[in-house]
Amino acid sequence: MNATTQPLVAHARTTVYFTAALAALAGLMFGLDVGVISGAQQFIQHDFAIDDRAIEHIVSSMMLGAAIGAALAAWLSGHFGRKRSLILSATLFVIGSVLCAAAWSPDSLIGARLVLGLAIGVAAFTAPLYLAEIAPEDRRGAMISTYQLMITIGIFLAFLSDTAFSYSESWRWMLGIIALPGALFLLGVLSLPESPRWLLMRGRRDEARMVLGRLRGDAAVVTREIAAIEDQLRMPQQGWQLFLQNRHFRRSVALGIALQVVQQLTGINVVMYYAPRIFADMGYATSASMWFTAIVGLTNVLATFIAIGFVDRIGRKPILYAGFVVMAVGLGVVGLLMHLGMATQVERLLAVGMLLVFVIGFAFSAGPLVWTLCSEIQPLKGRDFGIGVSTVTNWVGTMIVGATFLTLLNRFGHANTFWLYAGFNAVFLLFTWALVPETKGVTLEHIEQKLMDGASLRDIGR
Ligand code: BGC
Repeated sequence: MNATTQPLVAHARTTVYFTAALAALAGLMFGLDVGVISGAQQFIQHDFAIDDRAIEHIVSSMMLGAAIGAALAAWLSGHFGRKRSLILSATLFVIGSVLCAAAWSPDSLIGARLVLGLAIGVAAFTAPLYLAEIAPEDRRGAMISTYQLMITIGIFLAFLSDTAFSYSESWRWMLGIIALPGALFLLGVLSLPESPRWLLMRGRRDEARMVLGRLRGDAAVVTREIAAIEDQLRMPQQGWQLFLQNRHFRRSVALGIALQVVQQLTGINVVMYYAPRIFADMGYATSASMWFTAIVGLTNVLATFIAIGFVDRIGRKPILYAGFVVMAVGLGVVGLLMHLGMATQVERLLAVGMLLVFVIGFAFSAGPLVWTLCSEIQPLKGRDFGIGVSTVTNWVGTMIVGATFLTLLNRFGHANTFWLYAGFNAVFLLFTWALVPETKGVTLEHIEQKLMDGASLRDIGR
């Protein structure tokens, strides 16, 4: 780099950060929509006079939509481009939020949340892909972690906004207000450049060169990067064929599925989607339940920084072991306190504290690390397919947890339900030991080589 390119490069850095921040707003939208229903459901239940089963359907219809959206997103973003997929997602965010606020019956609310789910599913697949494709090499990890962080911030903001609206019991405002950030996101996305990698996939070399020029500011870097992308594109994605033909690829796809099932069976979304209900069942009044939920959201944000700080230093497996121990203990004690019945204020506060301990355990381990691992274990030729399958699994898992929690509570009681999830977390220690590879500090090429050579899954990072 010489003195004349320096200001250009500095300007390009600003452009790339601005672009990334806009795309990362998809994470914020995602989080807002995950978080918003927990505080709204008690008022919806009251207004529509519906039972717990109907609430489970309202909560989980969004997750069904997200699973479908994630499954469609690979095709959409390949066919129409990353930018147009994000525009579609942002539009659906706005429409879905308005429809939720206007819902006239439980069924119409289920339909509206299905639309929102489609928006989230498309965003959940496309935004990280887009971020990875526009990020300079030395900032890629940080940009993807930022996206994860935005999700937790979105959840927290939704919890806060729900708390504010809970005083007037206005669930329509809770659900509808999200159309505003949705509209801002839509405006932002309209100004995004298309991904250079996608443009090259379509043979639109001049446009790709122009976009990369704006994002890098240095002609030599642009030429080098275009050559590298074209080199990669010579190896076309062939996920489905590879899946049918190659036993080793089937193993990594299965590991991606297992990791996401494990992440969901930790029970995290029991808390994310039902926290005010859990606090109410502990004996707290509405406003205390709402504030505790906001604290849950803040804790989730803050503990995510622990993962970002340590994942490349300590490694994946030690962090996962620690996380599962903390989660099992946290939920185990919550179950115990529920079993004994919380007669005193101290016992009730202890239960809240242990639920927070559980959330911390998740946010520094399985939360971010499962996503990291899922993107690291797939061979290049099958990456889009492998990551697509694990993303869909995440949402199917969330749906199952969301659609069964209240039923479990009503049928087996609070203590047994929390012990069930505590037990899962204990079992996942074994899963981590037996099947999870340590991928800290090894190149993706090395992981791929070991996988394809038939090394056992836990050894593909050695
Ligand atoms: C999980 C979501 C969860 C969120 C909570 C993510 O890693 O995939 O299901 O709602 O963490 O922060």
